[in-house]
Amino acid sequence: MKKIAPSILSGDLLNLSNEIKLLKEADVDLIHIDIMDGIFVPNITAGWNIVEAIKSRTDIPLDVHLMIDRPERYIDDFIKSGADILTVHFEGTTHIHRVVERIRELEASPGVAINPGTPVDFISEILNYIDMVLIMSVNPGFSGQEFIYSSLFKIEKLRRIISQRELETQIEVDGGIKIINIADVSNSGADIFVSGSGIFGADDYLATINEMRDRI
Ligand code: DX5
Ligand code: ZN
Repeated sequence: MKKIAPSILSGDLLNLSNEIKLLKEADVDLIHIDIMDGIFVPNITAGWNIVEAIKSRTDIPLDVHLMIDRPERYIDDFIKSGADILTVHFEGTTHIHRVVERIRELEASPGVAINPGTPVDFISEILNYIDMVLIMSVNPGFSGQEFIYSSLFKIEKLRRIISQRELETQIEVDGGIKIINIADVSNSGADIFVSGSGIFGADDYLATINEMRDRI
């Protein structure tokens, strides 16, 4: 089952409870929350308090994407605050295996993200330990950037590796996904589609999400 994960911090920040309500009406599978620290990426969003606040308003599973340096410092806080899936960047830590094991130990679902410049082969050894790989299709840091088309080859390659090894690992793709390109992302082998401006920039979220569903 393919899943849509709206990136909620692209929504109206002063009206988040209403945004959550609309996502519930659209029956989305996950809510994606982008955490940026101003060091790993050139932008700052929020800390685990935002995860806690969103968790208190919804039962939709929370897909937390940590774009932070040395995420091992904050894994426990984000999981305690309600992250169901916790994704860390391969490039953000020296000890990716240890971080992933800690996420598992705290009973959240571990994901590993890779930037556009990081080859898929770099995560080969960690694949057996995680539930999800997040392929960034923009350079992380900002919503509203152009989808990098060469990401499609990375998705295809990763899909082949996962199938050959008979793993259940899901492929999530994040950055620049819109109605016009979601079919290409899906055909390349993605399972989970993050969209920020593609959904929150539209007048009618429900219609947009339904159109995305039709195309995948
Ligand atoms: C990029 C974030 C994305 C982004 C999505 O750094 O990880 O989740 O906000 O926004 P769009 O879909 O507008 O690229
Ligand atoms: Zn993200």
